[in-house]
Amino acid sequence: MHRSLKLLFGLGLALAIVASTAPTHAGSPADTVKERRALMKNMGGHAKEIGGFLKKGMGTAADAAGHADAIAANADKIVALYPKGTGPDDNVGKTRAKAEIWTDRGKFEASAAELKTLAMNLASAARGGDKKAIGMAMGAMGKQGCGGCHQAFRAKKK
Ligand code: HEC
Repeated sequence: MHRSLKLLFGLGLALAIVASTAPTHAGSPADTVKERRALMKNMGGHAKEIGGFLKKGMGTAADAAGHADAIAANADKIVALYPKGTGPDDNVGKTRAKAEIWTDRGKFEASAAELKTLAMNLASAARGGDKKAIGMAMGAMGKQGCGGCHQAFRAKKK
């Protein structure tokens, strides 16, 4: 076999192996919807804790940093919980996911990545300990991170 052909064949084989071992979602589409809503609620819980620290002095700045870390880690899990076949027209139970998640995928993915960046900024502000800086980073995360995606990709409550 020609050398470059051999190389191509090897590459194809490697890709096939990667594809066959890529993680797949075991649950049904309705389970996936439940899972992503639980992930969102979990992030809401962490955000609330950080708000409690800022407004009511609950916990410490270090605790707030931990909550921001948890949000950043969850941001990485968002995109995979929106596979094809789990949209508003797919009969998956209650969902407020908009069809644009699948028609404007690049923007949706960028939105999840932005949340991660803003949550990491918030975590480092919290580690710095300056409450004003933490408040600003929290505001940016809430508005652009959570709010930015919700505005574009989450349907209004019915
Ligand atoms: C990349 C997009 C995206 C980002 C970023 C995002 N969300 Fe969401 N969120 C959604 C979508 C889409 C839904 C609707 C999911 C559904 O109903 O299937 C949702 C739903 C929710 C819900 C309702 C969950 C339920 O009970 O159904 C809460 C609470 C929530 N998000 C909180 C947050 C918080 C807090 C953040 C930021 C820390 C955040 N989200 C960031 C897209 C996003």
